[in-house]
Amino acid sequence: MEIGLSYDDVLLKPRYSPILSRKDVDLRSYLTKGIRLNIPIVASNMDTVCEADMAIAMALNGGMGIVHRFLTIEQQVEEVLKTKRYQSIKIESPYVVYQQQTLKEIKEVISQTGVTGFLVADHMDKLVGILSKRDMQFEDDDNKRVSELMTPREKLITASFSITVDEAKTLLKKHKIEKLPLINEDNKVMGLITSKDIIKKLKFPSASKDGKGRLLVGAAIGVKQDRVQRAIALAKAGVDVLVIDIAHGHSFMVLDTISEIRQYLGNVQLIAGNVATKEGALALIQAGADAVKVGVGPGSICTTRIVAGSGVPQITSIMEAAKVAKEHNVPVIADGGIKGSGDIVKALAAGSSTVMLGNLLAGTDESPGVVITKDGKRFKVYRGMAGFGATSARMQKEAGNALIDSQLNDTVPEGVESVIPYRGSVQEVLHKLIGGLRSGMSYGGAKNISELQEKSEFIRITQAGMRESQSHDVLKL
Ligand code: XMP
Repeated sequence: MEIGLSYDDVLLKPRYSPILSRKDVDLRSYLTKGIRLNIPIVASNMDTVCEADMAIAMALNGGMGIVHRFLTIEQQVEEVLKTKRYQSIKIESPYVVYQQQTLKEIKEVISQTGVTGFLVADHMDKLVGILSKRDMQFEDDDNKRVSELMTPREKLITASFSITVDEAKTLLKKHKIEKLPLINEDNKVMGLITSKDIIKKLKFPSASKDGKGRLLVGAAIGVKQDRVQRAIALAKAGVDVLVIDIAHGHSFMVLDTISEIRQYLGNVQLIAGNVATKEGALALIQAGADAVKVGVGPGSICTTRIVAGSGVPQITSIMEAAKVAKEHNVPVIADGGIKGSGDIVKALAAGSSTVMLGNLLAGTDESPGVVITKDGKRFKVYRGMAGFGATSARMQKEAGNALIDSQLNDTVPEGVESVIPYRGSVQEVLHKLIGGLRSGMSYGGAKNISELQEKSEFIRITQAGMRESQSHDVLKL
């Protein structure tokens, strides 16, 4: 019988290092055949991990977030759009309000979108003004019309859509303004440039961006009825990659979904999973996946291996899948079971090009859900997507009130609900993980991730070795 090994079973042998500074290490890596990230980390498509706030934070820091699919199509599209709008220097479809609208209506738009300044247009979508936070701040009368509050067209500085970012910067500076509406010859609203977006761009130089300067974002789809409709809506919203994600990805349902999506959306970047074997990886690659997600049961909230007795420890799983994936030039994503930066180094050395994190990101400010305080300590809820809570919530949504007890009784959970320590911002968490990864690559004498994969030599350790690896024989403060 083969032996399956996981992260804690192995270590990487240190090697001669030609690296002068950890900063010299190049962390760029392919997420899919067509998408390269600046750091090899993506956020899990789980309802307690990734919606727009997480996707934005991940992309700003050079990684990417995958918006989960346990939302209506409209809600999931909105999360993608929020991410896409966040840092596009030229916002192509800015929020527009109309002159006849009341302040009360605008306040609703503000609470739904989080946006506080709007271009104002007439019924022909021609620019007639700007409504900014300042225009509304001391106004108590909710019935006032936008036309009475806005700064009118004649006082606005505008530009054509073809303006360059540098030219826009000069105009914003010269006129001491924050927003530059972009219009065509007929005065129709074509876009918007804001000083805030230009500043954001300077603050995050290694953000992951598409060709138009917008943040990269992925979204998950399932294999059920609405799969094509969902995929088309997400593609229309500008999603950069679709993730066909089910617990047992080596199945005809995933293969069918890949070919169906290809039929409708041609060259869209497609990740498929999850698999745990070389046969599974090969099947997805042959069906046309642009990346393979590997991991059956390693996740911190997973109970698949206990409930179903099926799975492969993650290092072995990655190594197997990566062997065939490499032959076809398809990247592997190591999904689940990562407890810290050391595991990221091991996952990449074993052959994955990126890692997917749930647990390590779920306790941050940017994950969905609130911070809970208990006995003076702060926590956030983190739950498995095949756990009872997530499954019953999903069934409730799908079946409405028609959900009957027997349906619930039929579900066999393969995940748990939990609380995990609050961890601050995504940026802080990534900073520590990236620091550890750089350090690991320096121990491995690797200037980049391909070198890490080529040069690394694993050593299998015993429990005594594992014990020695942790702090020991001290009282931890
Ligand atoms: P970590 O270890 O980062 O793992 O918490 C996150 C990954 O776990 C997978 N996942 C599940 N697996 N039952 C499972 O067997 C579940 O309920 C479940 N929910 C999530 C998923 O691949 C995720 O990225």
